[in-house]
Amino acid sequence: MKEIVIATKNEHKIIEMKKMLEPLGYKVLTLFDFDEFPEIIEDGKTFKANAFKKAKELSDYLNKIVLADDSGLEVIALNNEPGVYSARYAGDTRNYEKNNELLLKNLKGKSDRSARFVTSMCLYHPNNDPVFFEDYLYGEISEKHAGSNGFGYDPIFYVPELNKNLAEISLEEKNKISHRGKCLLKLINHLKSK
Ligand code: IMP
Repeated sequence: MKEIVIATKNEHKIIEMKKMLEPLGYKVLTLFDFDEFPEIIEDGKTFKANAFKKAKELSDYLNKIVLADDSGLEVIALNNEPGVYSARYAGDTRNYEKNNELLLKNLKGKSDRSARFVTSMCLYHPNNDPVFFEDYLYGEISEKHAGSNGFGYDPIFYVPELNKNLAEISLEEKNKISHRGKCLLKLINHLKSK
């Protein structure tokens, strides 16, 4: 059976990725299967660099095919911040509420509130060139929180086509339009074409 290791311990991502990869005949392993592997420092300047670093380090260690992803939010009026610092924008504690508060504070008085979510993925094969995928979800940072679904910046991310914030829609609906959902689909289409 073909094996693929996904470089994450995030339960949400594991469920989502297994659901799409297992029907293609892959046995999906995760970082939980390799507990001894040390934490990877995400110090890249781009999402792509972080995805590549995670995939390469784990693949070099295991000699297996690895899929890694990195994602975050870019706000135009803030020079694309928080970017690769999205998880720890307001400090090292990875506190979603504090991140959202800081973002709203930093955007106060700015007329351009446009933003996008980015997901970068790297598929790293021990003997082949790495393959990269990227996708986006465009929207605006709203003035106020709305909804209680999702995570991270979802309550303050407004999607014009839906006239809703991301935290107001179901996970199924979100997966159809989200940066991560669309990126995963690109990866799946690539694997299917092999
Ligand atoms: P990760 O690298 O995919 O774990 O994401 C890093 C950070 O980006 C998360 O901690 C969130 O703050 C933010 N982020 C990424 N994707 C989303 C999303 O779909 N909704 C809200 N926030 C997100």
